[in-house]
Amino acid sequence: MVKAWFMDNDSSDQRLEHHRNPPEFISIEDLFKKTGVEYFNINVNTYTTDGVLDKIKKERGYTYEDEIACSKECLPNYEEKIKSFYEEHLHTDEEIRFVLEGSGYFDVRDGKDEWIRIAVSAGDMIVIPSGIYHRFTLDTNNFIRAKRFFIGEPVWLPYNRPADNMPCRKEYVEKLEKGFIAAC
Ligand SMILES: [Fe+2]
Repeated sequence: MVKAWFMDNDSSDQRLEHHRNPPEFISIEDLFKKTGVEYFNINVNTYTTDGVLDKIKKERGYTYEDEIACSKECLPNYEEKIKSFYEEHLHTDEEIRFVLEGSGYFDVRDGKDEWIRIAVSAGDMIVIPSGIYHRFTLDTNNFIRAKRFFIGEPVWLPYNRPADNMPCRKEYVEKLEKGFIAAC
């Protein structure tokens, strides 16, 4: 089950939990209110037949999907690669991930520019809004397998920070100021 917390400013291994002292957790409801990140819980054993994922895909218009796996075995230059995932960036589209196996951390910036760490594992599906600064890292298990979704032809291009003048960033900041409204 997904958990989220505010991060410390320690520069040690990105794969560690990086809790503050004392830890400051944030609920999934507050995570949405503060960042627009959406969360769905999906049963990994029944999702192909129970209709839950199909309903989300239909309602949100996800027409493309594929599967990715990250581990020391499947990524050459693993240590360098995970550092590149950890560069703070944004996208012009939503980043949608449904974790099938393993685990990892998505870090997102809140409106005060604080990092919130979202720990995902099997059954967690998260939607990171377009225009939000974020990054990803494996955790100390060094393994994740996930489905990616997209509306239309996929574009995975990251724009590293600063990207404040991009239209998607401006739209995101506007939503942040107005407050987020759930799509479904
Ligand atoms: Fe990303």
